[in-house]
Formats: sequence, C-alpha cells, structure tokens
Amino acid sequence: MVSTEIPAVQRLYDRWVELAPSLCENIDLVDAWTKESTDLIISTFSDLEAKKVLDIGCGPGDPTLSLTTLVGEKGEIVGLDFVSRFIEELEKRATSKNLKNISVKLGNSLDLPFKNESFDAACCRFGMQYLTNDLKIRQLQEAYRVLKKGGEIVVVDWGEEAHGEIKNVYLDVLTKHTATKNVDKASTDFNLITALDFARLLKSVGFLNLQWDYAEIHWRWQGTPVTFWNFIRSMSPQMDSIFANIPEETANQIHEEIHRNVAKYYDGYFVSIPAKNIVVKGVK
Ligand SMILES: C[S@@+](CC[C@H](N)C(=O)[O-])C[C@H]1O[C@@H](n2cnc3c(N)ncnc32)[C@H](O)[C@@H]1O
Repeated sequence: MVSTEIPAVQRLYDRWVELAPSLCENIDLVDAWTKESTDLIISTFSDLEAKKVLDIGCGPGDPTLSLTTLVGEKGEIVGLDFVSRFIEELEKRATSKNLKNISVKLGNSLDLPFKNESFDAACCRFGMQYLTNDLKIRQLQEAYRVLKKGGEIVVVDWGEEAHGEIKNVYLDVLTKHTATKNVDKASTDFNLITALDFARLLKSVGFLNLQWDYAEIHWRWQGTPVTFWNFIRSMSPQMDSIFANIPEETANQIHEEIHRNVAKYYDGYFVSIPAKNIVVKGVK
C-alpha cells in the first residue's frame, strides 16, 4: 500500500482497491467506453515522438497503452498509479501486446516518486475529478516539479456541466424515486469544476500558454442497456446504499425505467451516450 496521510486520499485509495477487480475484468470494454477521451488526449498533445511521458493515475489500460504509439520506439510512457492491481494489469497487457516503450510505477500522484525535471510531458485523465481544489493543486505542483522546462501537461476530466445525457438516463430517475436530494453527489465522490477554473489552477502552480475547453465525446458501451446499467452501478459503490434504503418494488421500477432510457441510445451493438469532457493544457 502507498502511504497516504490524508483521510480523503485514503478513502479514494480504498474505493479504487474495491473497484479494481471489476474494472480489470472489463478493461477492453472500458477502453472502448473511453475511446473518444483517449483520442482527445492524443490529439491535444504536440509532437511526442521520442519523448518521455508520465501518465498520472494511469489505471489498467488507456490512455497509457494508446500513448505508446505517439512516443514511438525511442520514447517511453511511464504509467503511475497507487493501486497495485492496476499496475500489474497494465504491465500484463503491455507485455501481451509486446510493447517495449512502457513502464509502470506504483506510487502516489500527490508525492511523485520521480526526480525533478525527469519527464518531457505528462497527462492525467479522470484522475483529478475526485480531488478537492487543494489536492488538485498539490497534484499539479507535483506534475510541474517532475516536468522539464517546456514540458506539456494535458488534463482530461469530467468537469462541471460535463455530465451530458447521462443525467437524463439515470441520475434524474434516481432522484425522482429516492429521498436522496443530490443523487449525483451521493453516488460519486466527484469534486467537479469548470474548464476555466481548472486552467486557473494550472496557472496558479506556474503553467503557461494555457488552453481550456469542453470537448464533445460519446461514452460507447459495447453491450445492452442492461449490461450498461450493471456496469455503471458496479463502478459507483455508493449506489448500494441508495438502493439499500428503498423497497424492492421501487428498485425494480427504477431499473426498468433506466433500461428504457438507455435503450434510446442503443443501436443493437453499442450504447452511445453524448457527454462532454474538459480538456486543459499548459506548458512549464
Ligand atoms: C477514474 S480512474 C482513471 C484511470 C485512467 N487514467 C483512465 O483514464 O481510464 C482514476 C485512477 O487514478 C488513480 N489514483 C487516484 N488517486 C491517486 C493517487 N493519489 N495516486 C496515484 N493514483 C491515483 C486510481 O487508482 C485510478 O486508477
């Protein structure tokens, strides 16, 4: 275990350890689910040929794996995560794909186990949306420290206003049927901010040439509305406590209504739900 002296970070660690087995088992589906966000990271970076790039909070698959094509044989991607199950899975997948330009590191993104100025670029996808602003700043400070001068950082996250149609699909249904006032808050640990506020955080730690935007993407789930909803629930453990407090009949009604909503986005192969990601870029 990576030691974290901050209770909120310890809670996050416990949550990811709990989610890791299910995420790793479904990793091909998850990589397909986030494909457009992976493409977004790739298209936002400048030329990364032969560069050394750090993927902060890498998880078990993309964008780390896809970034290997960008750095080429002479470059290197280093994936860092504090959950050993993710690190092992990523290493296993890299080996099975015969990727030589990737390495993994177990560590805490708030206290990066790297020397100053050891990377040409860094990215973080969906790794900061759970952090308070103070912790977002600490993570950005660490990224800034390990980047060389001129090094780029690209952050892709959920942001405020970024929920898109997922809100209509299930959050509103849960709100309607349960006593939970803010299902969104109760079912996730999100601390979402706007793209502009994210850029301001980058500026506060010293990054220059800032760019920020909302990018239109689709979450693409290769499966049926039922497997889609099962997956969403398995990724949001807090939902168990919402369902624990309602009668079975109501729970079944909720599931049926959500399945009907999701079916509107299902073409027989994929559930494809429009959403927005925030994308922020800065240079040291
Ligand atoms: C939502 S997942 C995103 C994984 C991957 N970046 C992606 O885009 O699919 C967040 C990841 O950040 C990692 N993480 C969260 N806090 C961390 C910390 N303090 N240090 C290292 N990894 C952390 C989690 O273990 C998890 O793998």
